[in-house]
Amino acid sequence: MGRQLMMEANDLAVRYPNGDIALHDVNFSIDSPSFTAIIGPNGSGKSTLVKTVLGLLKPAKGFVKLHGYDSVREKNRIRKIVRYVPQRDHIELNVPMKVKDIVLMGRLLKKPPPRFSTSKDRNAVIAALKQVDMDDLWERPFPELSGGQRQRVLVARALASDGSVLMLDEPLAGTDSHSQDLIVEALGTYHRENDVDIVMVTHDLNPIHSYVKDVLLMKNTVVGIGTPCDIMDLDMMKHVYGPTARIVEHSGHRYCITKDSGFDRHD
Ligand SMILES: Nc1ncnc2c1ncn2[C@@H]1O[C@H](COP(=O)(O)OP(=O)(O)OP(=O)(O)O)[C@@H](O)[C@H]1O
Ligand SMILES: [Mg+2]
Repeated sequence: MGRQLMMEANDLAVRYPNGDIALHDVNFSIDSPSFTAIIGPNGSGKSTLVKTVLGLLKPAKGFVKLHGYDSVREKNRIRKIVRYVPQRDHIELNVPMKVKDIVLMGRLLKKPPPRFSTSKDRNAVIAALKQVDMDDLWERPFPELSGGQRQRVLVARALASDGSVLMLDEPLAGTDSHSQDLIVEALGTYHRENDVDIVMVTHDLNPIHSYVKDVLLMKNTVVGIGTPCDIMDLDMMKHVYGPTARIVEHSGHRYCITKDSGFDRHD
């Protein structure tokens, strides 16, 4: 058995219909199993990369593959192995679907029709909601939840579903530190106990620092790839986040403080 590649890109470029080049000269490869973080400032092409991997956007040049499947030619294979949590989910908030139904939907959509739920499905739903501490609210209409609670439910939906790669685009956005801890801990445990790869887009590497194996640092191309500590390099961080970026060391780990992380107001 050779090494199994989780994700690889070769000479990848992506252009939007208006002519904007969102990604150019993207080259990288990441082995499986991995917990990968994609980081970079607003507009650096993180969501574009994820959408391209999923076959939702087409490369203008080059290719990207997931577990060996080409994002264009083998889009259907990719859909089967990926569980995707988009940056902004378009769940209809006017329809009072309950929490348990939202999570169950994630499982049922991976099944061929007719899509009946079994007791195995319902148990998976409860187990996933427990992991993010939302099982008490499972009868609640989803629209009545707070933003952070909704994010936790959407992560539970991904956890309850099937597929060997979880792709989450900013699952920590708009959550307080309690919800962040629950989400990060649930994903870390899930990765440790199951044979799954996790790819997570995040603004702030610090909350997931100790769980992550590989980091892609983006600025419309891949500026750096490596372990969290490799990426926490002052020159690289200044290049991407500007001159106010700082690196701090704590318990043998290096963390980056940028304007985004909000810490540097006190220095
Ligand atoms: N639908 C679109 N049409 C045209 N340009 C787009 C579109 N979506 C994104 N872009 C542009 O592509 C670039 C990369 O956007 P992308 O959404 O991938 O960034 P991001 O790193 O995910 O940012 P954020 O942190 O804000 O989510 C930006 O310059 C953006 O303006
Ligand atoms: Mg984005």
